[in-house]
This record gives sequence, C-alpha cells and structure tokens, in this order.
Amino acid sequence: MSTGDLCDEVAHLKTACDAVILAHYYVSPEVQQIADYVGDSFALAKLAATLSCHTLVFAGVRFMAESAKLLSPEKTVLMPDQTADCPMAHMVKQETVAAARAQYGEDLAVVCYVNSTAEVKSWSDVCVTSSNAVKIVRALPQHTILFIPDRHLGSYVAEQVPEKNIILNDGCCPIHHNISADEVRSLMAEYPDAPVLAHPECGPEVMALASFAGSTSQIIEKAAASQAHDYIILTVEGVRGELERQTAGSGKRFHFPSTRPLCPDMSRITTEKVAACLREGTGEIGLPPAYIAKAARCTLTRMLELGR
Ligand code: 13P
Ligand code: SF4
Repeated sequence: MSTGDLCDEVAHLKTACDAVILAHYYVSPEVQQIADYVGDSFALAKLAATLSCHTLVFAGVRFMAESAKLLSPEKTVLMPDQTADCPMAHMVKQETVAAARAQYGEDLAVVCYVNSTAEVKSWSDVCVTSSNAVKIVRALPQHTILFIPDRHLGSYVAEQVPEKNIILNDGCCPIHHNISADEVRSLMAEYPDAPVLAHPECGPEVMALASFAGSTSQIIEKAAASQAHDYIILTVEGVRGELERQTAGSGKRFHFPSTRPLCPDMSRITTEKVAACLREGTGEIGLPPAYIAKAARCTLTRMLELGR
C-alpha cells in the first residue's frame, strides 16, 4: 500500500473508531505526521486524562500507554507494538523502596519518574516527568526523597533542589547515558556560539556542559524562542522534525551527537502498525490488578495536580 493510501486508511479508521492518535516526539517523523497530537510525556498524560474520544492509540512506549489507561480506564487504549517498552521503566527493586521507607518513615517521599511500570508507580507517592520534576520535588513537604528509577534525572533534581536530601537509585536511560561529554565538547568546539540544550536523562558530566535542561517539549520551545543560529541538541533525534517545523524559515540548524541517539523501542512504532491496530483492534492495553491500578493512578493524578 502506498504511503498516501495508508494515511487515508488511518484517517478513515480514526473516524470509524472514534480514535485519537497520541505520539511522542521520539517516534518516526511518518508516525508523528499521522498523529492528532505530538508531545512530551507530561502533555500526553494530560491529554489522555481529558480527551473525550472512545479510543486512544498510543504511539510511544508501554509506560505511556499504561499511564493513559490508568488515567482514563473507560477508554480503549491501543498500542501499535506492545513490545515497545522503555528499559528504564523496570530498573528499580521493591526492596530499595521498602528499605528507604523503613529507614526514613514519614519524612520520606518516594518520587517516581513517569518512565516506570504501573507496579513501580504503585510503590510511590507521586510521579514526575522531566518537565515538572524540580517543581514537584520542591513542593513536597518531606525532606528526604527517594528518586526512582532514573539516577541522572534524580541527580539533576538534587542539584536544583539542594535543600532536600535526595537518595538516588541505580537506573538510567541507556540512550541518554551513552551521550558522552567528549562528543559534546567536540560539537561545542565546532559550534562555539551554539546553546547546548540537554534532556536531564543525560549523565552529570554532559549536564555540566549544558546551557539549558528540559523535557523534549521544553527543548523545542527553548530553541524556537532563542536567537542563536546553531543549537546542540542532547536528546533522541526524533525531536528534529518538530524543531525544524517550529523554526521553519529561520535558518536555524540543529546538531546532534555523531553517535546518533535513537530510541530502538520508540522506533518500533510504524505507520503500518498504527493502521493495523485500528483495523484489527489489536494491542489493547488492560488495567493491572486493582490494588496496583488504584495506587498507581493516585501517583499520576497527584502529578497532574502538583505539576500544573
Ligand atoms: P519527555 O518527558 O521529555 O518527553 O521524555 C520522555 C522520555 O522517554 C525521555 O527519554
Ligand atoms: Fe526509555 Fe530512553 Fe527510550 Fe526514553 S529514550 S523511552 S527513557 S529508553
């Protein structure tokens, strides 16, 4: 089937199923093009909670679709490829949380990056995304924070909120972790006037070189609002499409690490798979057991309240 025919079929199926396609900036440009909304994790979670359609197709990784289902259990949530899973979502053990709770008691808040399974969320007090982690941690009454699962986002938050005692866990995003300070320095030598815009999932050595840190949307907004000609972008290359769309005609240029950060799980989502899940009703995401769903939903709704 030609690309045009496939897009026409998706448009027809969306109407027939009363479906909305949500896509993350890291999926391919073709998938972003057929989506109704493209955004960062926080924007997509807010949309999932408020849209009134019957079906949501989540073009992203599993934790995003799972969060949409938790926030909107009455909706049918479809994932075009159920094997698209963020490895970091699993990088924390329940014993780590239990040990911190036993040691700190009431003074502890367990703060969970949204890149986590529903079960991990159910062990936590509140969820955060990279766009609101600093704001939410600062607003919590507890002094001690166990930040799971991402140690890099956790250490970035610890730097921004020095008044709190932040305990880190040993997880990270393999893609952002692999961006090396050396390749960033060589980009900086090549483009000395370029702002360095980094996702806080990058390691501390890279973050020390950044002039701005933020979520995918915040990086795009910053580049669109700035006056520079060249930008060094330290996150997954999928954001390039929206960066170029929002700055069209400005002559701005975006430089990514030469190791080409791509998320293999996000890349599993294709236009063909989006059409197939709508056509066949496959890839439906169910709710986890009720005790997990209830606790995990609380952490997400608390994030939506505090992160506003
Ligand atoms: P954002 O919340 O910035 O969209 O990031 C999601 C993600 O998975 C980053 O690797
Ligand atoms: Fe997970 Fe990293 Fe992919 Fe984001 S880029 S979904 S954190 S593996």
